[in-house]
Amino acid sequence: MRIFVAKDYHDMSLEAAKVVADEIAQKPGIVLGLATGETPLAMYRELIRWHREEGLDFSQVITFNLDEYIGLPPENINSYRYYMQHNFFRHINIKLKNTHLPNAMAVDVDEECREYERQIAGVGGIDLQVLGLGQNGHIGFNEPGVDFALSTHLVHLAAATIASNARFFAAESEVPRLAISLGIKSIMQAKKILLLASGSSKARAVYELVHGAVSNNTPATILKLHQDVQLVLDERVAMHISRV
Ligand code: GLP
Repeated sequence: MRIFVAKDYHDMSLEAAKVVADEIAQKPGIVLGLATGETPLAMYRELIRWHREEGLDFSQVITFNLDEYIGLPPENINSYRYYMQHNFFRHINIKLKNTHLPNAMAVDVDEECREYERQIAGVGGIDLQVLGLGQNGHIGFNEPGVDFALSTHLVHLAAATIASNARFFAAESEVPRLAISLGIKSIMQAKKILLLASGSSKARAVYELVHGAVSNNTPATILKLHQDVQLVLDERVAMHISRV
């Protein structure tokens, strides 16, 4: 596990964007696994800037997002499809047909999960998976207690996640209780993983990830078993970890 500690959120985002851009330069038809949340927003902004100013080319890039809330249609401002369109996809030259998120409106959720896995396998798997981190150590929507053997699956969100994500909704009662998420098994199959974390509220989860044992109490700790993981952190989230 490689660890890069940036001075603040801006520098963390710049470093993460560099990693993504370098990978695209090496493989223009790369398959990217993408994350939502507040953490990657400035990384997306930086990639958009490089597209506009330096011609970073997304025309062959394929993306799969980690997760989506069940029941929120794409035009709902809290759906992750809406987030991706507005914060990233519509500002770059990616082909819409190459961007994938779980279908939150699927009638048969189990079949949708299997289909999502088939689509990922059909393009040869994820080359680079970008991850954020929940305060409780979740990755995607793989909540504490999750079965590490699961691939894409239906998730009942943890109370802590509902409370934390309520900041994006008018009221906590409006936060969906269910989601579809890439499972830990699917995330671990990515060839390379880039995890971003910033802010003191994630410091405990990052400490566990770096110094703790692998445990599904803090799902991100599974990444200790992956052979190619890079953590890009800011100083506040990294304050408790030793860097020797
Ligand atoms: C959400 C998402 C995760 C994200 C995490 C952290 O619940 N499902 O993919 O990484 O929470 O979000 P934030 O970056 O806003 O702290």
